Amino acid sequence: MARPAEAAAAPPPEEWSTWRYRDLVDLLAPRLAAGASLVDLGAGTGNTLAFLRDALGLGPLLAVEQDPARAQAAALLGCPVLVASVLDPAALAPHRAGFDVAVAGDLLHHLTGSSRGASRALARTALELARDLVRPGGWLAVLEPTFRPLAVATAALHLKRAVARYRSRRLELGPRWLNLGPPVVCLHDAGELRRLVADLAGVELVAVTERERFAPWPLRRGRATLLARRA
Ligand SMILES: C[S@@+](CC[C@H](N)C(=O)[O-])C[C@H]1O[C@@H](n2cnc3c(N)ncnc32)[C@H](O)[C@@H]1O
Repeated sequence: MARPAEAAAAPPPEEWSTWRYRDLVDLLAPRLAAGASLVDLGAGTGNTLAFLRDALGLGPLLAVEQDPARAQAAALLGCPVLVASVLDPAALAPHRAGFDVAVAGDLLHHLTGSSRGASRALARTALELARDLVRPGGWLAVLEPTFRPLAVATAALHLKRAVARYRSRRLELGPRWLNLGPPVVCLHDAGELRRLVADLAGVELVAVTERERFAPWPLRRGRATLLARRA
């Protein structure tokens, strides 16, 4: 039977995997009181925020997402949604020191500049602004895919930037993670992420978990979860 035209045309709802958050739940659960507040930076459609809310018994939430369609989906959670860039200090200013936890989940590698150094500077700025959303004694959490060697990830950044000039959609070349063009990403390795968080003024890095997902030589893909405490 033919499907209605609107249904056929509607894009599938975007959902990001929640298994990536298991380490974070394990790290936060013993450190949070019931009803803790959390701001999710780059919240996507909000499904991972819903997972955290349920797993940790969270209270007040804020989703920050720059993509209006995703922000609209996140609003279905019933929490406030700020449609803004995580790099916009003015948009975030009213929320400073307002949360027990700030989470940047698979966000940093989407903050890309013209080089690895410029991308790292954007990630640093995002982390500084995220830290400022946390009350003293609260938590800053970062989840990221990790990739080595960095030279390959940097080559991918430049190749994807070049292809993205001519294509507006992902061009897949086998596994889903292996694509050219948008989204342009700058993948970091675990050491780089650790330094980014550890060097952040006013926080102490308290926990890091690293998991290797697969490693077809010489590539190493994995995940890192970092937790820091605001002084
Ligand atoms: C890979 S998704 C991650 C979604 C969710 N946090 C998760 O862990 O599954 C990255 C999200 O960050 C958003 N994003 C990227 N750059 C952003 C920015 N500068 N400000 C706000 N959101 C941003 C994207 O629109 C996207 O929804």
